[in-house]
Amino acid sequence: MKIKKIKRIGLLTSGGDCPGMNACIRSVVRIAIFKGLEVCGIFKGYQGLIEGQVKPLNRRSVSNILSYGGTILKTARSSEFKSLPGQKRAKSVIEENGLDGLIVIGGGGSFRGAHLLWQRWKFPVIGVPATIDNDINGTDSTIGADTAVNTALYAIDKIRDTATSLERIFVIEVMGRETGYIALQVGLAGGAEDIIISERRYNIDKMSADIRAGHKKGKVSWIIVVAEGAASAAEVAGKITRKTGFETRVTVLGHVQRGGSPSADDRVLATRLGAKAVEFLIAGQADKMVGVVDSRIKAVDLSYAIKKKKVDTETLYKLIRILAL
Ligand code: F6P
Repeated sequence: MKIKKIKRIGLLTSGGDCPGMNACIRSVVRIAIFKGLEVCGIFKGYQGLIEGQVKPLNRRSVSNILSYGGTILKTARSSEFKSLPGQKRAKSVIEENGLDGLIVIGGGGSFRGAHLLWQRWKFPVIGVPATIDNDINGTDSTIGADTAVNTALYAIDKIRDTATSLERIFVIEVMGRETGYIALQVGLAGGAEDIIISERRYNIDKMSADIRAGHKKGKVSWIIVVAEGAASAAEVAGKITRKTGFETRVTVLGHVQRGGSPSADDRVLATRLGAKAVEFLIAGQADKMVGVVDSRIKAVDLSYAIKKKKVDTETLYKLIRILAL
């Protein structure tokens, strides 16, 4: 089918914000203008699209945002866009503003919305993967994940100091929705003794026996990283105290992992993916995500990107356990 020549594009960020979104916005806006396109920012994600919160952006609109976390376009989780009337309203706003294509920076939920716009009206959308969870199929990395891992690691290193001094067990909860990516990475980088992720079963009795055995061998502190979707850190800590008799403390890192200045890796990834998303739209691509595989950027079908990502967690888990004991 023939896709209309792209002259004016819309850009939105959707779902949970993450460090690097601004770097991506800057890249999209400046590359699009460089290529002769007009760019409109849509504020507050799909909800803002439904409400017509659309404003033209120029090169200066994105000055000095590269190093900031969050998103200057704001973001939202829109329940209205999940309904057909909401989607129809969004489509009318697209037409009223003369948009020929849209770039959506976000995660799985945001891509499901983008895919719908193509399925219903053949409106060209390109997705840019941005979520601290790194749970998008078809890309090795998502914007924001590297910074989030470093933020969590920074906190865990500090917790290790007090855990060692007072000879305590710490159960630390990290974000990641249903995926254990952040937990695995910080588990390895922070020398955690164990991790709990939803990708694998865990056994509190075995964990407690390991703690007791480790104690006999002279281990004085213990860090267990729990991925938020896998278990409640408070419950895990309670059970360990009951079974071992050792003192435990719980730290829930929470939304601190979503903020802050993006790492160099996230800025580079965001800039490369944003630029490529514009090129894909100009080249007539639609219903695709820009993914990075083995450092190369490629076009991934959105229908594939939104499927559950399969990852080998076992290899890293074994490494964490062997190194910790
Ligand atoms: O998807 C990013 C993420 O931070 C998840 O890790 C977490 O489960 C979720 O968003 C939290 O969402 P909210 O900020 O809406 O509470």
